[in-house]
Order: sequence, then structure tokens, then C-alpha cells
Amino acid sequence: MATLEINGLRARVAEEDGERILRGVDLTVESGDIHALMGPNGSGKSTLAKVIAGHPAYEVTEGSVTLHLDDADVADIDADLDEEDYSWELLELEPNERAALGIFLGFQYPAEIEGVTMTNFLRQALNARAEEREELFEDEADESETDDEDAGYDTSPMEGPADDGEIGVAEFQSLLKEKMELLDMDEKFMQRYLNAGFSGGEKKQNEVLQAAMLEPSIAVLDEIDSGLDIDRLQDVSKGINALRDEQGTGILQITHYQRILDYVEPDRVHVMLDGEVVKSGGAELAEKLEDEGYDWVREDAFETA
Ligand SMILES: Nc1ncnc2c1ncn2[C@@H]1O[C@H](COP(=O)(O)OP(=O)(O)OP(=O)(O)O)[C@@H](O)[C@H]1O
Ligand SMILES: [Mg+2]
Repeated sequence: MATLEINGLRARVAEEDGERILRGVDLTVESGDIHALMGPNGSGKSTLAKVIAGHPAYEVTEGSVTLHLDDADVADIDADLDEEDYSWELLELEPNERAALGIFLGFQYPAEIEGVTMTNFLRQALNARAEEREELFEDEADESETDDEDAGYDTSPMEGPADDGEIGVAEFQSLLKEKMELLDMDEKFMQRYLNAGFSGGEKKQNEVLQAAMLEPSIAVLDEIDSGLDIDRLQDVSKGINALRDEQGTGILQITHYQRILDYVEPDRVHVMLDGEVVKSGGAELAEKLEDEGYDWVREDAFETA
């Protein structure tokens, strides 16, 4: 079981006099739980997602983002692990290292990449991640040796080796088939180029598939419900529930609408205002927001401030 613990997180745009966006975020997401993050446009939700993933556009000025793991999360690691190998300060790690530890970020606006089929992308992503995981835990075990070559994007999914990875084609295909069945997805999807020519809704569904394949401990899904028709919303919701139920993924779901929460029932709902989580509650909080908007939250927050 993994826990993502965010404490007093402050971040600003990484440029001179860059705008301060996150102003002290506290939030904890455990694997197996679904948390909804709501809040007005521009309140800092996507920024939080990107800071968790390690986006270089932002500079963290204070606070911590810690990922706590347990034995089950590192069952694939073939090394003697120390106590500190179970807790990672993500802010000290590169984006690909964070992904290797089990953090998945679904983008609000997924990119299109021409010439890369979905299957190739996913297989390379899996292989790159396996390799990165191994290195990460090995490096930790062998601290004396610093090797900067391992930093950065050297093993990013797009540049990973095409054919000499750990996961072979046959193994990959059967995993893919299993996950597509889990998500009720059409197999013809797979030969398509990565997000190129996919409709907005199909891209969102692809994101869920990517998460299912990578089996992250914690998935941050940024507005995965925007632009989905009613049927696709249900498909995507079913997928998100499957991530939680079948893989124990903890989900931080950023959304503007209560609607998806009818299908993906959140354990907690949080409201972000001006770069802070100012209110948390159960599913009923999302319903109240849908009815009454954010003004009352703002008033409450000011009163108690
Ligand atoms: N790289 C950047 N450079 C300058 N300003 C930025 C940058 N990233 C975010 N901001 C600003 O920070 C604020 C928060 O943006 P963010 O995208 O996190 O909001 P959001 O809560 O996700 O909004 P939405 O609901 O519209 O997606 C906005 O005012 C935005 O303009
Ligand atoms: Mg956003």
C-alpha cells in the first residue's frame, strides 16, 4: 500500500518573479482511495498535478511530496531494501524516476505523437520503467557511486530501446489484451498512432489504458471527464473504478463536475482555492458545490482565516 503525502507545498512559475501558484497545499492520497479535487478555473489544480509529476515549469519553494511504499509495492525489486527505500521524497527525483516509483499523471491535454503506435509506446514505457526502477533502487543501495548519466530523460518512454527490453512482445500482447478486457476496450484501438487522430474522448480512454498497463500506485487524472459523451463517460469511469478495485491504485481525480462522481464515487472531495486546499469532505461536498458554486467556500475560508 502506497501513500502520497503532500505537506505545505508551495510552488511558483520557474522564472524570475514567477507567479506564486501553490500556497501551502496539504493532501494525502492512499492507494485504493479515490480523491476528487475540485476548484475554480485557475485555482492551481493542474499546477499541483504537474508539480507532483516534476514538471520543470514550476519551482517548489517550500514543502514536501513524499511517497511511502510498503513490501507489496517493491515486490519486484530484487535487492535488500533499507528502511529509507520505503519512503521517497519525490521533489528530489526526476520525472521519470517518480513514474518508476509508481506515480502516473494523465494530462489535461494529451499530446499527439506521430509515427508511434500505441502498442510500441506502451511497451517501451513499461520497459523503460522497469529499467528505471531497477536503477533507482540499486543506486540507493550503492550511494557511494554517483552517476549523473542516470538523471534526466535518458530512459524516457519515447527513447527507450525498441526490442531489447525486459518485456517481450508476446508477454506484452497478453498483458495488453488482459487490460483491454478489463476496461472493455476495442482491440482495433491498438494499432493507431499514439493519440494522433484519436478523438478527445478516445484520448481520455487511452489514458486510462496507459494507467492500467503501468499499474501505478497513485494516478493523478486531470479532467479526464471533460469532453466525454455520456457513454464514454461511463466507460472511462468504469476504467477508473477498475484501476482502484483490480490494481489498488489510489486516484487523485481533478474535475469540475459532480457528474463523473456519480460513477466514480470519491472517498474524499477537496476544494482548491487560490493555491490552497481550503475544504475537504465526503461525496456530499461535490453535490453542494454543484448546487451552490464556490462563493460559500470562499466566504468560509475567509471567515476562518
Ligand atoms: N507556466 C505558467 N506560467 C505562468 N502562469 C501559469 C503557469 N502555469 C500556471 N499558471 C497560472 O497559474 C494559475 C493556476 O493554473 P492551473 O492550470 O493550475 O489552474 P487549474 O486549477 O488547473 O485551472 P482549470 O480548472 O482552468 O484547469 C493560473 O492563473 C495560470 O494562469
Ligand atoms: Mg487545470
